[in-house]
Amino acid sequence: MAPAPRLLPVLTLLLLTAAVGPCAGAGRGGGRVDLWPMPSSVTRGAQTLHVSRDLKLTTAGSNYSDGRGILRDAFARMVAVVNMDHVINGSYQGAPVLAGVNVVVRSPDDKLNFGMDESYKLSVPATGSPLYAQIEAQTVYGALHALENILHWHIVDEQSFPLEIPSYPKLWNGAYSYSERYTMDEAIDIVQYAEKRGVNVLAEIDVPGHALSWGVGYPSLWPSATCKEPLDVSSDFTFKVINGILSDFSKVFKFKFVHLGGDEINTSCWTTTPRIKSWLIQHGMNESDAYRYFVLRAQKIALSHGYDIINWLGSGVAEKVVAAGLRCIVSNQDKWYLDHLDATWEGFYMNEPLTNIYNPEQQKLVLGGEVCAWGEHIDASDIQQTIWPRAAAAAGIMFVLTNLFFEFEERLWTPIAKVAKDTRSVTARLARFRCLLNQRGVAAAPVAAYGRSAPSEPDSCLRQ
Ligand SMILES: *[C@@H]1O[C@H](CO)[C@@H](O)[C@H](O)[C@H]1NC(C)=O
Ligand SMILES: *[C@@H]1O[C@H](CO)[C@@H](O)[C@H](O)[C@H]1NC(C)=O
Ligand SMILES: *[C@@H]1O[C@H](CO)[C@@H](O)[C@H](O)[C@H]1NC(C)=O
Ligand SMILES: *[C@@H]1O[C@H](CO)[C@@H](O)[C@H](O)[C@H]1NC(C)=O
Repeated sequence: MAPAPRLLPVLTLLLLTAAVGPCAGAGRGGGRVDLWPMPSSVTRGAQTLHVSRDLKLTTAGSNYSDGRGILRDAFARMVAVVNMDHVINGSYQGAPVLAGVNVVVRSPDDKLNFGMDESYKLSVPATGSPLYAQIEAQTVYGALHALENILHWHIVDEQSFPLEIPSYPKLWNGAYSYSERYTMDEAIDIVQYAEKRGVNVLAEIDVPGHALSWGVGYPSLWPSATCKEPLDVSSDFTFKVINGILSDFSKVFKFKFVHLGGDEINTSCWTTTPRIKSWLIQHGMNESDAYRYFVLRAQKIALSHGYDIINWLGSGVAEKVVAAGLRCIVSNQDKWYLDHLDATWEGFYMNEPLTNIYNPEQQKLVLGGEVCAWGEHIDASDIQQTIWPRAAAAAGIMFVLTNLFFEFEERLWTPIAKVAKDTRSVTARLARFRCLLNQRGVAAAPVAAYGRSAPSEPDSCLRQ
């Protein structure tokens, strides 16, 4: 027997992101539109649509051939999600039924990378026979955003060196264990998996600090056997290894940027190791000169492999960085670190990356923000509920994974003018988004309190 027809809000089923144009269907609860994050523009109608069980994908008027099946697979994933809810057979007579989605992509093909047009317009008309929703996008990746949310996987490592580097095959001796490693083929799989979902993979090697694990395979990268970080600045071998890593990276990680870390450095090993100390004196460098020399030389290597570079900087520096004409991604640890379990979703939501940046030209240099979940209080047992829904509160939808820490990243989605001044007005919308995540098998924690808190009592997902 077919499941009893139920009134379904088409909008909230079809997408977690944006809708523009005349829409039939809307969120539960009166005039509210239950979308997270809020799109740049949205209008709604008053009618309710049913979603057909055999929803069809059509591409009338599209220039994109979908040779790799990116669109087809994304549509199948969306249909699987829709079918988890209560959909009806196409023959249902009682109310308008959405028969399918027509996707029009203007560009015939596109390589996923930084700066591509990922916008889209989704309209769900109130009438039509058969009735089709229409997605219009410049690129197939824009169309993907209209079909589903998107995760960003970003491979990084710190105390563990989990990735196979063919140029220096002993580097991954520094992994936590034999089984906690990625082969190059697995890295390629990850990148391809992400790419098919419109997700860029940004790889990081954090140098010269946070690189102790490198010396497990190659001890000469350490200043000495008793003083193991930062990497030996005086040795050409250090830079040969960095070159080998970035050379291997460039065959796998095709994103425009590579992350070179550069944070939290304590250079005392450079002055307490006699060999390095003499090198500093010989080159007329103090510790900060040597740090600068290291960072610049590593950057030059990255540039030679065709990468643009991202480095970590201290806190409160965004305004200075953009004043100097450089681009930046904001990730302040007091507000946007998910491993801070006492950080509330309201804090994530209200954090403003453009703080103290008023010049519109300089505002454009802020590419977005990144919320990070470092490994301090997180492992496979609680990662999802630590990350969600707070990452979503920062409009963070992109996903990053390493053996050591997890990181999210996202160009901020909702225009500042539309960010609510009072978080109470968006709580219900975020709660609904969390329920969608739960429905899709993501163990997002209740919205009510701090990171990964338990529900306070048995209740509807929507009220928790
Ligand atoms: C609805 O679809 C299912 C399978 O797709 C079929 O078995 C069932 O007979 C259909 N019911 C009606 C009322 O058409
Ligand atoms: C498809 O490509 C043709 C040729 O470049 C162009 O004229 C047309 O506008 C494109 N279609 C869409 C929907 O953009
Ligand atoms: C740097 O490391 C040395 C040696 O471990 C330690 O004595 C010193 O306190 C550290 N400096 C800072 C600023 O943490
Ligand atoms: C290091 O030397 C540079 C000049 O080479 C100087 O500007 C800087 O202040 C020195 N830093 C420290 C910490 O002594």
